[in-house]
Amino acid sequence: MSSARHDFDRHLAQTSATPLGLEIVRAEGSWLVARDGRRYLDLIAGIGVTALGHGHPAILAALEQQARRHLHVMVYGEYVLESQTQLAARLANLLPSSLTRVYFTNSGAEAIEGALKAARKFTQRQAFVAFEGAYHGDTMGALALAGNPDFRRPFGPLTGPVKHLPYGDAGALDLIDADTAAVVIEPVQAEGGVRIPSADFMHALRARCDATGSLLVFDEVLTGLGRTGRLFALEHFGVVPDLIVLAKALGGGLPLGAFCGRDDVIGVLSHDPPLGHITTFGGHPLSCATALAALTLIVEERLYDRARTIGDYLMRRLRESHLEGIREVRGLGLLIGVEFASPEKARTFVHGCIARGVIVNWTLNADRVVRLAPPLTLSQDEADFALSVMATAATASA
Ligand SMILES: Cc1ncc(COP(=O)(O)O)c(C=O)c1O
Repeated sequence: MSSARHDFDRHLAQTSATPLGLEIVRAEGSWLVARDGRRYLDLIAGIGVTALGHGHPAILAALEQQARRHLHVMVYGEYVLESQTQLAARLANLLPSSLTRVYFTNSGAEAIEGALKAARKFTQRQAFVAFEGAYHGDTMGALALAGNPDFRRPFGPLTGPVKHLPYGDAGALDLIDADTAAVVIEPVQAEGGVRIPSADFMHALRARCDATGSLLVFDEVLTGLGRTGRLFALEHFGVVPDLIVLAKALGGGLPLGAFCGRDDVIGVLSHDPPLGHITTFGGHPLSCATALAALTLIVEERLYDRARTIGDYLMRRLRESHLEGIREVRGLGLLIGVEFASPEKARTFVHGCIARGVIVNWTLNADRVVRLAPPLTLSQDEADFALSVMATAATASA
């Protein structure tokens, strides 16, 4: 056993009894390199983070340039820092025109918390609506929205009241009422098993929020920044939320989240009391600099189009090959769910892929569904390598 593995087992807090435990020493492009020299094709991109692949020169250059200017200088919101202002302006220009304000955070969950606080203060209401199968992060407020009760139960009481509605069921939207401060939804549920709602449902949801005066919050932590074949997944539905939450790919590989929204909604956080919602490291200059570099590349190189082309190719080939044990292949762009007949088959498939040099993983709230979320820069050759490994692993796990 290496000393790193020894210290991992002995000193790092564990998040499960069965960690993958791969010792990664380097990463480049779509590949991870382990201590023993083995290379793994990274089809999950650090769970949707490394949209440009690992070690992209533009990210490294932005990192170096900003590091030479300055690192942390003051809590977020006090000084005028170009790294933050340029990124906020760029985001506001790319988002629907009503979403003009950006509040930067350290993570997705922290951005969800900010959105919940803004919604409560703006509406003067307490209740939230979320969806079965949802995942929004693991802080107390975000966890209260989680759609899997197994993850909520040990940690209560959580922020509430929260109603969990069936995802995609327009018939249940009447439960959104005049007490609802906000409805929080992923435009595509990722941990819920890569589930895609209909445009009709999303329009009905917008209409119900308008009718009840509830805010609509899109959690695009995973779907944002090109992953689903559009810069933002909201574009698939033509529905504009009051707040949108971003993280993961936003920082270009560094930690960064944001909730962005209407001026009047986010504006409530600046007064009564002033400094009522602050963060020391949120919007760190390094993260904002790499985020701007990543966003610029995603837009200039139209990586969302690439995600759509390669994603469609992967899905078509997976469907056509009728692999043993696979029930359904679904997705949008490079967020793909492969559904197996049982959780055991999904697990065996995941381990079979990793043993053959391709990293995939299952989803938190749908243990029969394996998720693919590779870098948006995945090449055709890499996609073909992944397909051949997945075919072998599926046959072996049948
Ligand atoms: C849809 C969604 N929302 C929120 C989060 C929480 O983000 P973070 O882990 O950065 O707190 C995640 C993380 O996986 C996510 O997938």
